[in-house]
Amino acid sequence: MIQKLEHVFEERFGKASIKVQSPGRINLIGEHTDYNDGFVLPASVDLGTYFVCAPNDVNKFRFFSYNLDDKYETHVDKLERSNKGWANFLLGVIAQFINAGKKVHGFDCVFGGNIPMGAGLSSSASIETGLAYAINQMEQFNYSLINLVKFSQKAEHEYSGVQCGIIDQFAVMFGRDDQVIKLDTRNLNVKYYPFEQRNHMLALVNTGVKHELAGSEYNVRRRECENGVAMLQEHDPTIQSLRDASLEIIEKFKEELLPVIYKRCRYVIEENMRVEKACEALTKNDPDTFGQQMYASHEGLKNLYEVSSDELNTLVELAKQVKGVKGARMMGGGFGGCTINLIKKEAFGRFEETINKNYKTPEGNPPQIIKINISKGTHIVND
Ligand code: GLA
Repeated sequence: MIQKLEHVFEERFGKASIKVQSPGRINLIGEHTDYNDGFVLPASVDLGTYFVCAPNDVNKFRFFSYNLDDKYETHVDKLERSNKGWANFLLGVIAQFINAGKKVHGFDCVFGGNIPMGAGLSSSASIETGLAYAINQMEQFNYSLINLVKFSQKAEHEYSGVQCGIIDQFAVMFGRDDQVIKLDTRNLNVKYYPFEQRNHMLALVNTGVKHELAGSEYNVRRRECENGVAMLQEHDPTIQSLRDASLEIIEKFKEELLPVIYKRCRYVIEENMRVEKACEALTKNDPDTFGQQMYASHEGLKNLYEVSSDELNTLVELAKQVKGVKGARMMGGGFGGCTINLIKKEAFGRFEETINKNYKTPEGNPPQIIKINISKGTHIVND
């Protein structure tokens, strides 16, 4: 891929000076907890976005999307949101450096990749984080990686309008080969766990439904959680976020919460507990317990948080029927995208067969099944 991009870059702009690879991410468990100061368990994967860039002397930011065969350019002094959706992921990142008081000089960039879009693998975070990394290198700004993660997250808030938490950009940047990241989103403390891939494997199944509803419904969920916190705070001012709330508290004040707010809060509190249990299972090398937490997470996302869909539910039910599948759940924001499945390697054939036989995308095609390799975060590609 990177060679193809270099070739396109040469044809359009000349000689590239920097190449960056930025992965997509999965999340094993801990969904919709990252904007509630909670725990998540993501990892970066071997699908990614690649960037080939070089400074130019025409005072323009010039982009070419290889996948979309489309270009976008703007004068460095005229940076603003565009009505081209894909360009906003990039422009939003440049804006963060400028907001921080930096001068970003004109540069050219060809980018492309193999992360399926709208599948819940964070193709947008991969783009944002990759470009932030490339600009930091080109301009030698020396921002820390965590700073670049925060710039990328802010780009998503301001230029795409999704009030996302930090999991996506964080996992994309800080992922490691064969390790999953337990991130405490309250203080950004990190613990890496080796992920055993000798006997078990991870696979995604793409529903074929893009998670388009995700943006607006996502922001609604966020507000519902904030409402819950505001109400609980009246009784206990030490509750700053749902991370501070317990099952006891939520049960005690159940009558005062709107039923929908109660459900959202209960889900988040339980999901945080599940991440802890899942990590314990990782240390004990206990895939059965890990998998049970995944199934339970899906139930919560479906019934309490209400972000699943018929397609996602069908895929999880099918996975459950296959002997050797340890756990399955919808992954990411919801309303479409993929399920993530923990499977005993010897059962993969059965799994594939069951899914292909019993599930068709809304267009009537067999679903895309993606085997996942956990691999390292955003980095420079050398020749
Ligand atoms: C999206 C957001 C993340 C996270 C997940 C749900 O992917 O970008 O910040 O909230 O949804 O866990």
